[in-house]
Amino acid sequence: MPEIKFYSRDAIPMEMHKVKIVQKLNLLPAKARLEKMRQAGFNTFLLHNGDIFMDMLTDSGVNAMSDNMQAAMLHADDAYAGSETFYKMNDKLTEIFGMKYLLPTHQGRACEHIISQHFVKPGNCVIMNYHFTTAKAHITRLGGRVEELVKDEGLVTKSDLPFKGDIDIDKVKACIAKEGADNIPFIRIEAGTNLIGGQPISYKSMKEVTDVAKANGITAILDASLLQDNLYFIKTREESMKDKSIREITRMVADLFDIIYFSGRKFGFARGGGILVRDEKVFHDMEDYITMFEGFLTYGGMSVKEMEALIVGFDESMDFDVISQGPQFINHCVKSLDAAGIPMVTPGGGLGAHIDARQFVSHIPAEEYPAGALVTAFYLCGGIRGMERGTLSEERNADGSEHIASVEMVRLAFPRRVFTLSQTEYVIDRVKWLYDHRELVGGLRFVHEPKTLRFFTGKLEPTSDWPEKLVAAYIAEFGEDQ
Ligand code: F0G
Repeated sequence: MPEIKFYSRDAIPMEMHKVKIVQKLNLLPAKARLEKMRQAGFNTFLLHNGDIFMDMLTDSGVNAMSDNMQAAMLHADDAYAGSETFYKMNDKLTEIFGMKYLLPTHQGRACEHIISQHFVKPGNCVIMNYHFTTAKAHITRLGGRVEELVKDEGLVTKSDLPFKGDIDIDKVKACIAKEGADNIPFIRIEAGTNLIGGQPISYKSMKEVTDVAKANGITAILDASLLQDNLYFIKTREESMKDKSIREITRMVADLFDIIYFSGRKFGFARGGGILVRDEKVFHDMEDYITMFEGFLTYGGMSVKEMEALIVGFDESMDFDVISQGPQFINHCVKSLDAAGIPMVTPGGGLGAHIDARQFVSHIPAEEYPAGALVTAFYLCGGIRGMERGTLSEERNADGSEHIASVEMVRLAFPRRVFTLSQTEYVIDRVKWLYDHRELVGGLRFVHEPKTLRFFTGKLEPTSDWPEKLVAAYIAEFGEDQ
């Protein structure tokens, strides 16, 4: 839905749904939050959800379901093998994407695991517009490596580029020439490029890169986890696509690829995942991995109830009204903060509002995890849980030194259909407060550092008593009880 017009004021984002079921939220006092943060080892992943006021960690598996999705769950056909729900899901995905074969998985990273197992050999190079943490981890675990060939402008924080996820086609051609097509098992294109700020890739860029892939006999794979936001941006920002329906755009995108995979925790608003395959032989070659790692071929580790919900969720993802709201709320948040001089990733993308932590807390050294520190500060100052997306989320170099991330961000995710505009305004307010007190935020260091995906379970400590000082300033402003 394009913006709803107002008579007496500028347009604001509108919820295109009404609330039917609610979950009560707790706003712990700031001192209690400090204690909880200490217990969580200054890692927002380790906080308990009941201690969080605004959970903006992710949109993964926490999007609101519709009444129709919940109703559909009652129809679930429980069967170890041959569940009717699976065939319905397969048919729905074939209807939308035009690909015949579905391998069900329990979530997105399981797709990455299976695709990597099938395609990646030691020494291989996988081309991407940009990596996602779990996608890269599965490839490097098997001895492969990743080349991120997003256009240089895509990494510039403040920009008005409509498609920052676009790939640099000259770099792709040069990479293929250097590596040889045989050493590139697939090109992975990520819709709604997560780690550079939920930024979309244009249809034009997808067409260019998949044409090159085809010409070189390289498999083209789409990570469609964040496709719904990307579809909104293609329709609203890509001139040649504005008169096409979301379904038409989806089909045009899908027709470019050999394989499409998705996290159903994002695409479809429920929980699960799947790999769609065009080629029958490739499908059969990957089947064994499903039965070995996921479950039987007609559920793949998913609950059939969730599968029923996903089937409805896929249709809702084709509804322009539904998929417009996330980007519009994010845009409102990004614009408000940008207008206040706060270093935001612009233009607003999908998934969430992204803050450039390198600029926000420019006094914190890169090795002390500026985004990791800032994200803990947001919890202390308002009970807001965001996610670090920077150096802390990287793995160390082989020599043990820090791999400093090319972008250092805090993400405030907007799970779909979950938060209202007043809650969004609260977040905007607290981010502004923290920006005005940013010099109080200090660095972090690891006390327990796992080798792989350390950001999930690692424990850290502050490099000084800055959290106490920050909380004292917060209490002086808002009182003991907030
Ligand atoms: N691909 C993309 C683009 C993702 O954003 C994610 C997950 C995955 C794959 C993996 O899917 O979680 O179902 O295993 N992103 C979540 C996030 C974790 O918070 O951004 P999964």
